Amino acid sequence: MDKKVKRNIKGLNGEVVIPSDKSISHRAVMFSTLASGTSIIKNFSRGKDPHSSLDVFRTLGVDTEFLDETTVKINSSGMLRAPQRPLDCGNSGTTMRLVSGILAGQNFNSELTGDESLSKRPMKRIITPLELMGAKIEADNFHAPLKIYGQQLHGINYNSPLASAQVKSCILLAGLFAEGKTSVTEPFISRDHTERMLKFMGADITVDNTTVTIEKSILQPKNIEICGDISSAAYFIAAGLIVPDSKIILKNVGLNPTRAGILEVTQKMGGNIKILDKKIVSGEEVGDIEIQTSELNACEICGDIIPRLIDELPVIAVMATQAQGDTIVKDAKDLRNKESDRITTIVNELKKLGADIEELEDGFVIHGKTQLKGGCEVETYHDHRLAMSMYVAGLVCQKEILIKNFEWVNISFPEFEEYFYNLGGHS
Ligand code: S3P
Repeated sequence: MDKKVKRNIKGLNGEVVIPSDKSISHRAVMFSTLASGTSIIKNFSRGKDPHSSLDVFRTLGVDTEFLDETTVKINSSGMLRAPQRPLDCGNSGTTMRLVSGILAGQNFNSELTGDESLSKRPMKRIITPLELMGAKIEADNFHAPLKIYGQQLHGINYNSPLASAQVKSCILLAGLFAEGKTSVTEPFISRDHTERMLKFMGADITVDNTTVTIEKSILQPKNIEICGDISSAAYFIAAGLIVPDSKIILKNVGLNPTRAGILEVTQKMGGNIKILDKKIVSGEEVGDIEIQTSELNACEICGDIIPRLIDELPVIAVMATQAQGDTIVKDAKDLRNKESDRITTIVNELKKLGADIEELEDGFVIHGKTQLKGGCEVETYHDHRLAMSMYVAGLVCQKEILIKNFEWVNISFPEFEEYFYNLGGHS
């Protein structure tokens, strides 16, 4: 489905209840199935990726029932059943990488497959540590499909070369089934939803700075309420700041500090952003965010903040085209390994719109402020975050743009367009 987006001249105004966090939704399904008993997950994501996780666990024998559109009941014996067919992870890297950790230590064999984009993404980052734990995995050139031959695993102390929550979580989940202690040390802290949720469910897990240690544990089923996804909120934050005459309130946004880098950056850029009503829900910080149109200044984004805003960098690039000065993004080479090579794809598509942007090996430089011209077609490269970032850019282009294959937004945020529409996103 192609989508036309026009410049917004009236401003975006109103409230949005931000839909469910994708990362937490995946984990809620996975960890609930490892607990024996009934778990209720409230505000489960409507996105395709978390539904890929749900489908994988159904194939592994877990009984799931939707009590309403976003409430899932999971009945599990805590044991998984040998799958009768390959487990399709769709477009979801989180599903493939975390599930590999769970399956490596089972007493059966399994195969994980993915779509065209997922089959090109690097899996060496999880295969290497899992093999150190005794796992047996077959993969052509470290790419999906992955054939996993279940083994008895043993604990390791792993110094991860990457600050990656997917890698960390994969090893910790394998550690749940391994003999002895398993620990992972990261160069910088990545999102810590796994640690928080496993602790909430009673796992024997400890965190010491950038090292997390886990031992075999029995998980307790819980009722989990999932907060709104700050990575989805990011599109409204960026649009609210750069579309003239806007004032938006975002409700129920997850504010976990390991995810909230975008708030640090927008405040540094001079964005008029207020955090209201902070509280804790199911072990995660949650609050509301008020955003108003602002004059933005460029800033440098590098080092330990990168994992805290990795998924927001494409829309931050859009925002930076409207900031005065040179915004420099560095140390973000892993952006090249996401659903698309997000360095090349965002640079190419923003150039088409008229941005002054240069590609670096590990990031990009944007010279602002530029009036984006638009009046052209842009691609989405099977990448939901590219599609949504282009939509935000379209709101400030002089001429209408056409976004090809906009349906990729359904991977994380099927409600995206409707929510923008309700704020006056089409003028
Ligand atoms: C995720 C972690 C991040 C992020 C991805 C979701 C997760 O990947 O980019 O969208 O749920 O753990 P890395 O941990 O590989 O950086």
